[in-house]
Amino acid sequence: MSLLDEIEPLKAEALAELEAAPDLPSLEQAKGAWIGPKGRFTGLMKQLGGLSKEERPLAGKAVNAAKVELESLLNSKRDALELASAMPSRATDFTLPGRRRRVGRLHPLTQVTEDIVKSFRKIGFVVADGPEVEDDYHCFDALNTPADHPARDMQDTFFLDSKDRLILRTHTSSVQIRVMEKQPPPVRIIVPGRVYRRDTADATHNPTFQQVEGLYVDKNVTVSDLKGTVEFVFRELMGKDTKIRFRPHYFSYTEPSFEIDFSSPLVKKMGKDWLEIAGCGMVHPKVFENVGYDPEEWTGWAFGFGIERIAMIRYAINDIRLFYENDVRFLRQF
Ligand code: DAH
Repeated sequence: MSLLDEIEPLKAEALAELEAAPDLPSLEQAKGAWIGPKGRFTGLMKQLGGLSKEERPLAGKAVNAAKVELESLLNSKRDALELASAMPSRATDFTLPGRRRRVGRLHPLTQVTEDIVKSFRKIGFVVADGPEVEDDYHCFDALNTPADHPARDMQDTFFLDSKDRLILRTHTSSVQIRVMEKQPPPVRIIVPGRVYRRDTADATHNPTFQQVEGLYVDKNVTVSDLKGTVEFVFRELMGKDTKIRFRPHYFSYTEPSFEIDFSSPLVKKMGKDWLEIAGCGMVHPKVFENVGYDPEEWTGWAFGFGIERIAMIRYAINDIRLFYENDVRFLRQF
């Protein structure tokens, strides 16, 4: 049998053996046995030198082609075995549920806001919304806040670089005006939303925070309606033992105006008897005139308070910035 005739059967035998290797060590062994320095196929190549000039080119070409084929199988087989050895030995069902369920959750401020909204819904309030980029008129003028009022100072308000003097709203009271401009009385709304003030961030201040505004307009609305409503909501939010107290105050859009203090075991825990929590009052007749409501016919009250403040008392958090850093170690606790 000539050398040329030996190539094919030898190659077939080598391919079969490489193919059959069950793991990497046996593959390396098969490689040595066939194309290693002492391998059988290598032996065949060594014999090329002994061939005649006529036979050598043809046989050489055939041997080289066969070797390329063997090496290519060797490589692909090695890749496949390497991949297989990296896989878990037992079949994995990737559709099984994870053993530890760590689902996301709502931000504490969102949770508190939802609780506030839920309480007000029970007594017939609906949620209203308004723009965070406001104009002077809705944020101040229509609320009877004169041009020389300190709240309108450049120090306190973010002004946008625009011709029409747009600002970032400093309170959600602007939405009172937007709602009353659009709908006739009666009105019973709450407005949770983001507000902005030029404060430097510290433990109790942040340049943006959230408020809830409330507005109730109807016939013969009184301060006792206001007090009863505020008391109901704060008891829902802070527990049955919560007490409410009104102190006279000044806001340009209400008359009379009050500051609301509240007391509860949570407040006692902070070493205090009362905490100031909200502003409120009876809607000023000027405000009604500005939106086209007849102040002789309609009466109403309004209030506003900060959501972070509520959340801080409720969860005993002493730094407002925690709400905005979004450190998961903090967020996971709620
Ligand atoms: N706008 C006030 C603030 O940002 C809160 C407030 C006080 C809202 C009295 C009212 C109100 O509606 O009647 O501090």
